[in-house]
Amino acid sequence: MTKRFSADVESLSGGHHVVRAYQLEDRQREMFPVIYEAEIEFCDPNPKTADAWGDVIVSGDRFLVKTDKGGLLTRGSEWVVAQLIPEIGLSCPDVGIIRMRSTDEYFFGSKYTPVADKVKTRQILHSGESQKHIGLKAALSAAFAMDMFLNNEDRHDENFLLHYASSGRRILLLIDHARCLFSAWPIQQYLPESCNTRSTAKKSFLCHGFDLEAALYTLDQIAKVAPQKVIEILRQVPKGWVPEQVADEFSAWWGSPAFRERLAALRMGFEDGSLL
Ligand SMILES: Nc1ncnc2c1ncn2[C@@H]1O[C@H](COP(=O)(O)OP(=O)(O)OP(=O)(O)O)[C@@H](O)[C@H]1O
Ligand SMILES: [Mg+2]
Repeated sequence: MTKRFSADVESLSGGHHVVRAYQLEDRQREMFPVIYEAEIEFCDPNPKTADAWGDVIVSGDRFLVKTDKGGLLTRGSEWVVAQLIPEIGLSCPDVGIIRMRSTDEYFFGSKYTPVADKVKTRQILHSGESQKHIGLKAALSAAFAMDMFLNNEDRHDENFLLHYASSGRRILLLIDHARCLFSAWPIQQYLPESCNTRSTAKKSFLCHGFDLEAALYTLDQIAKVAPQKVIEILRQVPKGWVPEQVADEFSAWWGSPAFRERLAALRMGFEDGSLL
């Protein structure tokens, strides 16, 4: 069973927050994803975000939907990363494969979850009051390890969401995996220091510190995901989301010596600080 670094923050009296970093959760997974049909479509004619298409309603739930734009393999990357995230002990919103009735196209959907507003989230990510957010350091470090492994260049503040669970706990949710994995395929180099992921991480580690144990644990969890699991995940991806050749290369790479070397190089880079 996977330890979870989901930054579950308990609200205590006096407005303090404590993160439960190692919550255990046994997840029941479906073998095949349900394909939802969009009932109401709201395409934003003037989108404020880089990769989203707009919103849709499915059975009363609102989803942000994305298709592939600008040469990125957005849908395939979003979908596969969302399947890997719980495997390695992190959290993301519920996701879906959504069919548009109007065009019969398949979109990636991220189900809107109630979250803290952007100002509050930024304040918590960079507040420097890490004693109030125990476990956030672990969750941010774990997310950084995953991003570095998958070459996710775009983890800026707004790609973290703080969800308030009904228990009063907060959970750090990771979103927006359009610019990694298949969009950055083949994964070879390491992210440059100038990218969003490394510059945002640098700022948050200055406030909260870097949790080497959590980062190394995440790399270990990645190593434990069986190649067979990855093949199953790829089988669920709708046709056209990941080119066949990329899917074959990715399946062959997962668990290969090159994959293990990447994990080892990241471990070393985190330990000696050169990849922070
Ligand atoms: N599941 C969700 N629940 C709540 N809010 C969400 C969810 N998904 C996306 N959002 C909101 O929508 C914004 C845009 O989503 P997302 O980051 O996935 O798209 P994007 O176009 O790739 O963004 P950008 O390129 O600007 O980072 C997020 O920053 C967040 O505020
Ligand atoms: Mg975003």
